[in-house]
Amino acid sequence: MRVVVTGGWGFIGRAAVGELKARGHDVAVVDCLDPLSHPRRPPRHRGVRYRICRVGDVAAWREEMARADALLHLAARVSVMESQLRPAAYLRGNALETERMLRAAARGRGRPSKFVVASSVTAYGEGARRCPTHGPVYPHPRTRAALAARRWEPECPRCGEPTRRAPTPETAPLTGTSIYSITKRVQEDLVRSYATRAGLAWASLRLFNVYGADQNPRNPYAGVVMMFGARAAAGQPPIVFEDGRQGRDFLAVAEAARALADAVEGDRYEGQATNIASGRPTAVGEIAAAACDHFGGGAEPTVTHEGRLGDARTTYADLRLARRAGFRPRSDLLRDLPQLLEAADLRARAGRAGHGQDEARRAYRRAGVLVGPGGTPRGPPRGAGRKPR
Ligand SMILES: NC(=O)c1ccc[n+]([C@@H]2O[C@H](COP(=O)([O-])OP(=O)(O)OC[C@H]3O[C@@H](n4cnc5c(N)ncnc54)[C@H](O)[C@@H]3O)[C@@H](O)[C@H]2O)c1
Ligand SMILES: [Zn+2]
Repeated sequence: MRVVVTGGWGFIGRAAVGELKARGHDVAVVDCLDPLSHPRRPPRHRGVRYRICRVGDVAAWREEMARADALLHLAARVSVMESQLRPAAYLRGNALETERMLRAAARGRGRPSKFVVASSVTAYGEGARRCPTHGPVYPHPRTRAALAARRWEPECPRCGEPTRRAPTPETAPLTGTSIYSITKRVQEDLVRSYATRAGLAWASLRLFNVYGADQNPRNPYAGVVMMFGARAAAGQPPIVFEDGRQGRDFLAVAEAARALADAVEGDRYEGQATNIASGRPTAVGEIAAAACDHFGGGAEPTVTHEGRLGDARTTYADLRLARRAGFRPRSDLLRDLPQLLEAADLRARAGRAGHGQDEARRAYRRAGVLVGPGGTPRGPPRGAGRKPR
């Protein structure tokens, strides 16, 4: 098949392009090399055509579009934080440019017969939870007051009691509040809309938190793993928000790439949105502790008991739909962590990357999204320096 991969120079894009090439497809990449994702110019795959342009600049890649059998749409600005500071840029780059691309692709004479888009866990907000009294519920985002009082578990919208974690199915309402998450929801909706109208095949894979060694530490999904590693390698304590027990569902980038290639090739994911994840949560504090154990040297995580407005407590995927499509993930972040940290060569980069966490924390505070003790430290916060096991 001839496949155009937008965002094919990004973290997941590079893996998806590698997978599609390995399966013998003809691949072209459309990517604007957004400086936020690319502190350095990433390597090229052999035998792949690269168009350095914006997705919305359709004239610059119309020929590729006209020749393509399928369009794999991975291009997006991915910083949740930046999206709050620059909403218009995110709406333009992620939503309007997607619309322009789809409009051109659905109308063109030679045109792709399939659209595959990567949607995101962030669209779910807090996702599904379980109330001891009311069963499955979908709580509202946690309030400033709740975070300040360290009421970490989202409260039941019916009775106000703290809820427990639960796997999130695709039928969950999409209540993510960050501008980024809204644009990801819109990308999926636009693909569904244009494909349906034009009678084309489509699939949306809702990726959770994808990890891999060549990941940008600024990537909001699993970049924190690299930041923890960089600090631990430098003998500095990784900084962990909340109580460290908040969880994320991590998937190895190779498995994400295989699912995306399957969606491009066949009809297993067709006409629906499907969660793509490991199906299990890992506590963020445990990752920080494991990074410290890996490098030794006595550093231990600092648990700040600060909360970020808009963060979910613990999201992990209900994988029933994905399993029906044949998806059998084997990712295990804690198992892969030593290999990941070694491959990223964090000892060499330690000093620099480790500042990322201090910088990010200052930025969150300036933007008013960080709630809790922080600021000028008045003695260590409760639980600071202890491993959140
Ligand atoms: N990393 C994750 O865990 C994760 C989870 C859920 C969804 N996703 C989605 O997967 C996709 C890839 O994410 P990633 O983690 O590889 O991020 P990334 O930042 O590494 O890759 C995004 C790529 O898109 C390019 N890009 C951005 N806007 C563009 C535009 N308007 N025109 C052309 N190119 C543009 C960037 O230069 C970059 O190469 C994104 O759509 C993201 O929303 C990622
Ligand atoms: Zn309840």
